[in-house]
Amino acid sequence: MLPIIDTHVHLLAGLDDGPATADEAIAMARMLVAEGANAAAALAHQNPGYPDNDADRLRAATKSLAEQLQTAAVPLAVYPTGEVMLTADLVARFDAGTLLTVADRGQFLLVEMPYGTFVDVVPLAETLQPKGVRLIIAHAERYPELLHDDALGERWIAAGCLMQFTASRIAEPGRSINERAMKSWIRRGLVHLIGSDGHNLDWRPPRLKDGYDRIVEWTGSAVADRITHIWAAAILEGRPVNAAPPHHPPRSWFSKLFG
Ligand SMILES: [Fe+2]
Repeated sequence: MLPIIDTHVHLLAGLDDGPATADEAIAMARMLVAEGANAAAALAHQNPGYPDNDADRLRAATKSLAEQLQTAAVPLAVYPTGEVMLTADLVARFDAGTLLTVADRGQFLLVEMPYGTFVDVVPLAETLQPKGVRLIIAHAERYPELLHDDALGERWIAAGCLMQFTASRIAEPGRSINERAMKSWIRRGLVHLIGSDGHNLDWRPPRLKDGYDRIVEWTGSAVADRITHIWAAAILEGRPVNAAPPHHPPRSWFSKLFG
């Protein structure tokens, strides 16, 4: 098993609905390390509810967090990242330099749906593509319109998107209909990253290791290592992500005979 990388955790104290204090952020980082993590995209929301969270503010907060983690001897590397809400002015905000790409590499933007709304991201993906930027869909399992429409997921991936699932949801999918869909997405190669989406010590515990174990149960350790480490490390370090397109599972002898 490779070290786990949390590609979605609110760790920037006082900047959003994540940890209120630096001490709480450091305690959260210790929880991640205890779960087997060695790196994290340390993020804060970038949406109309937090108008002061521009890229420079998030960069400075992550730099300060990294120093505090070093002082506290917590072995977690942190990379500055914005969780960007899809809004009509997103491209204008991006062009103005106020949005922070994942690990500040200028290659991927982590996006979430506006509250209570589901939109098709393909037009945005096509607009950002000439700028060298691709989308990562945060907590993709949260949107039933997407989770229960593999073909839509495939179209978004073909448009350059990567899909992020929440570790605790993988560990405990809840309703069987969601479990079947999540399992199918992971088996078919539609999931590229996991994140805890942790906000504080109580809200959504990391469950990274439980998520890893569930992926192993569904697909084996090779796929689990790609989703929990290999592709995330490439993104955080600014290297290409060598993920194959989604595939269809081999048909069983039964379906070949009777399908
Ligand atoms: Fe989040």
